[in-house]
Amino acid sequence: MTGQLDRGPARADLLQSLTGLLLVLFIWGHMMFESSILLGKDAMYWVTKMFEGEPLFGKPYPLLVSGVAAIIFSLIAVHAVLALRKFPGSLRQYRQFSAHMGAMRHADTTLWYVQVVTGFAMFFLASAHLLVVFLQPDNIGPYASSDRIWSGRFWILYALLLVAVHLHAGIGIYRLAMKWAPIPAAGSKAMRRRLRFAMWGIIVFFLGLGSASLVTYMTIGRDHADHVGERYIPSYRLNSHHAVPASE
Ligand code: HEM
Repeated sequence: MTGQLDRGPARADLLQSLTGLLLVLFIWGHMMFESSILLGKDAMYWVTKMFEGEPLFGKPYPLLVSGVAAIIFSLIAVHAVLALRKFPGSLRQYRQFSAHMGAMRHADTTLWYVQVVTGFAMFFLASAHLLVVFLQPDNIGPYASSDRIWSGRFWILYALLLVAVHLHAGIGIYRLAMKWAPIPAAGSKAMRRRLRFAMWGIIVFFLGLGSASLVTYMTIGRDHADHVGERYIPSYRLNSHHAVPASE
């Protein structure tokens, strides 16, 4: 085996970084679209129909949403399996290392622990959310989502998932930048400080945006609690001559 390089671990590392990057880009986009509720019910309705392909095909195809959910789930599965390689062996090694260094509190090590804990939590939290999206892709919209969040009590799941996913994504991007940046740059203290500042900025931004959206869905859901299951009719349909008289 002399001279033979085992490229397996390097490939696996690259694939883990790549799937992680794609997932981070997905969740940032997801938050932008999902927070359309802050602009009003009509805006969120429009976004929902756009993802169901209505502007393109003339009628909605919720199966498209199930398709995206399946792709995202596969990306998560690959990313998680590759991450699993690294613990619990690495976790034990990190502990031993920290103990050896005399209760050293190294910020990047702490961030790594946060990645492990939030990643583990998302096995359950993200799966629950993705399964609902996959099985009931037609059950998304200003009232459908708000009813699920308030009357279905999904806000509990989302509040936990929101914190877990944005810590994980923000720290993940920071670690990616540190890992793939040219060595001298990544090694410099100033660079590290700047990257960590950006990381916290991004995390705080998405936690703020997500919390504001979640509270908006909860408020709409609470006001709509007596009409659970009734679907939203956008104002531009109500005003057209095809309008079905609204019972809301
Ligand atoms: C195709 C995949 C996905 C779709 C179509 C989707 C769609 C949605 C929708 C419509 C909502 C609003 C609430 C509801 O209708 O129940 C929501 C909320 C949320 N989703 Fe997703 N989602 C997907 C994947 C994910 C993934 C993979 C994650 C994280 C791992 C995630 C994290 C969240 C969080 C944290 C919230 C609550 C946001 C807030 O607090 O404002 N979603 N999602």
